[in-house]
Amino acid sequence: MTTHIGAAKGDIAPTVLMPGDPYRAKWAAEMFLENARCINDVRGMLGFTGTWHGHPVTIQGSGMGMPSLSIYANELIKDYDAQTLIRIGSCGGMQDHVRILDVILAMTASTLSTPSRGIFKELNFAPCADYGLLAAAHKAAIEKGVPTHVGGIYSSDVFYDERPDLNEQMMRHGILGVEMEAAELYILAARYGRRALAVLTVSDHLVTQEALPAQDRERSFGDMVDIALHAAFASNGTR
Ligand code: HPA
Repeated sequence: MTTHIGAAKGDIAPTVLMPGDPYRAKWAAEMFLENARCINDVRGMLGFTGTWHGHPVTIQGSGMGMPSLSIYANELIKDYDAQTLIRIGSCGGMQDHVRILDVILAMTASTLSTPSRGIFKELNFAPCADYGLLAAAHKAAIEKGVPTHVGGIYSSDVFYDERPDLNEQMMRHGILGVEMEAAELYILAARYGRRALAVLTVSDHLVTQEALPAQDRERSFGDMVDIALHAAFASNGTR
C-alpha cells in the first residue's frame, strides 16, 4: 500500500481507468468488469479491480484537478507499475461544432500550470496522448457511432474561472474543450514511459451555455468506459 492507495502490490492491474469521481469508478466496475472487488477506499477515493473479456483492469478515482490526479497517477505508476492510464471524464465544449454529449479524444492538453511546472520552468512542454491508444479509441468510438472529435484540449486549474480571456485564447486556437486533469496525466506518462489518453464527454458548453441533463450523464459515461476499454486492449502501443 502507498500513502493514498490501500491496495496490495498485486491488486492493481497494468491497465487503469481513471474517472474523477470515485462513485463513477464503482459504477463502471459494476457495469463493465467481471469479478470486480474494491481495492482502495482510502479517503473515499474508491478503486476496483476486475477483468474485462479476461484482461485485468483497475478503475481508480483520481479526484478533481491536477494536484489530486497527480497523487494517484504517481503512486499507480511508481508503486504499482501501471502501464496504461486512461482518464474518463467530462469537459466543457469550446467550439461551435462540438456538441453536448459528443466525445473528445484529447490529442494534446494545453495548460497554464500543472504540478510538474517546477520541473519545466521556462520550458513549454507539449503534453500529448499515446498515439496507439488514441487511434484505437477513435476506431472504437466510430464503430459505436458516437460523435467524436480528436484534437487539443485545455487542462485548467480552476472550474470557477476569473480569467475568461484565457478560455477565449484557447477557443481562438481551436481547442475543443476544457477539463482539469489530462495535462498532468500526459506529463507523468511521458516522464515514466507509460501510455496515457483522456476520453472526455462534453457535459456543458462554454459557447452555447448548455448543460447535459442529469439523466443523460450515466449513458454518456458508459460510452466512455467502453471506448477506453476497447482502446486499452486493441492498440499495440507505439513504444
Ligand atoms: N471547466 C472545467 N472543467 C470542466 C468543465 C468546465 O467547464 N466542464 C467539465 N469539466
